[in-house]
Amino acid sequence: MTAKYAVILAAGQGTRMKSKLYKVLHPVCGKPMVDHVLTQIEKNQMDQIVTIIGHGAEMVKETLKERTEYAVQSKQLGTGHAVLQAESLLGDKDGMTLIACGDTPLFTAATFAELFEYHQSQGAAATVLTANADDPFGYGRIIRNDLGIVERIVEQKDATKEEAAVTEINTGVYCFNNRELFQALHQITNDNAQGEYYLTDVMEVLKKDGKVVAAYQMGNFEESMGVNDRIALSQAGKVMQKRINRTHMANGVTLVDPENTYIDVDVEIGADTVIEPGVQLKGSTKIGADCLIGAHSEIKDSVVGDNVTVTSSVLENAVMHSNTDIGPYSHLRPQAEICQGAHIGNFVEVKKAIVGQNTKVGHLTYVGDATLGKEINVGCGTVFVNYDGINKHQTTVGDYSFIGSGSNVIAPVVLGDHAYVAAGSTITADVEPHAMAIGRGRQVNKAGYYDKYPVAKAAQQTEEAAKNN
Ligand code: UD1
Ligand code: CA
Repeated sequence: MTAKYAVILAAGQGTRMKSKLYKVLHPVCGKPMVDHVLTQIEKNQMDQIVTIIGHGAEMVKETLKERTEYAVQSKQLGTGHAVLQAESLLGDKDGMTLIACGDTPLFTAATFAELFEYHQSQGAAATVLTANADDPFGYGRIIRNDLGIVERIVEQKDATKEEAAVTEINTGVYCFNNRELFQALHQITNDNAQGEYYLTDVMEVLKKDGKVVAAYQMGNFEESMGVNDRIALSQAGKVMQKRINRTHMANGVTLVDPENTYIDVDVEIGADTVIEPGVQLKGSTKIGADCLIGAHSEIKDSVVGDNVTVTSSVLENAVMHSNTDIGPYSHLRPQAEICQGAHIGNFVEVKKAIVGQNTKVGHLTYVGDATLGKEINVGCGTVFVNYDGINKHQTTVGDYSFIGSGSNVIAPVVLGDHAYVAAGSTITADVEPHAMAIGRGRQVNKAGYYDKYPVAKAAQQTEEAAKNN
């Protein structure tokens, strides 16, 4: 088998993005563009992959880690010069080399595989992957002779009017005979409109050497989209989102309004789950089967079991086990864990806390830095007071406990199993199992005091006016 190498070009700044973030690191559906490219290349069982880095080199390395080798291009003198930086890693090897840009996030592994196959079938030294564009502006154009054979590639800025009218474009993906690629790269010049060493000029060099230069036209222009600015970034996002959403629907997930459902590329969803409009599922989120994710929920880097209902709520870095529910309008913050059968109602915030099996936290409650056992009822408006202004403190509540509404549980404090907290209590000390804690002042009624307050006079006037009507 012929060895397969790849070079990914990712050294450019991406001026047209007008961004602090380097172009190839801009995410599309939750993953940096260059990561998309690498992920699809990896699926082709490559022998070696080299990524060319320059601008933002450290950040690109942090993103792609050990999945690729790196070659540094310290000055961005063009795509041809960029590939040449991989010479010390690849130059003397037999095999074929795929080249792709870090700013074309939509290519699929299947297209790369087709290109490898076509390249070999043609016995070519170089094969460029082309596509037909309705609007070819900005792309390199494929110039063929009268017999339809590829002669060269002309960049937008160097194209004559006639050449610019050609709609067959260079997708920026190529397959080369590895040795011939590096030999030819030494022969290109920067004698062009941009003063750059163009990789595309390698085609003409090989052609002049009498080598076979081929072109493989892919059916789908959309897939070859290059992202140079924010407009293209949004378009690429749309295309990718459509692809992701179709895959989930094909796998048995109901998307009520797929055009308004935003799911990152690595998200997993089980069958018979229903996703309502405006939902955002981000990062490494995993959703089980038979769930209902209600309108406008946002779930990031979280794990949701089977048969869970999330109603208009926000989850980040949280876990909801099977048969739980939350919302509307609640918030699970990092390290919130909701165990089987538990219920989180409306306007509840949970942070770094475990809510045990079948425990209910129904309304207007803050649970922070706490471990709640099973079968507990947390009354409305309970606050787990965890912060003294400097440190966070921990609360533990035992199984089968009952916390009355409007209680403040001031940490650090431990409530044993079967503890009962009277409503409106401020709990500052541990409560032993089966005890009732009441922490509030006794009620005092003062007869006739109402009439001393200004409110009494206003009420009297209102009452009289009502009588006279
Ligand atoms: C390039 C092609 C063009 C093709 C288009 C497809 C050339 C000369 N032009 O144009 O024919 O239609 O892609 O999308 O190849 N890069 C480096 N080092 C450099 C210059 C660029 O690593 O010195 C990287 C960039 O980070 C980017 C990629 O190469 O990921 C492409 O560069 P870009 O400037 O976007 O080229 P285009 O003008 O889009
Ligand atoms: Ca580009």
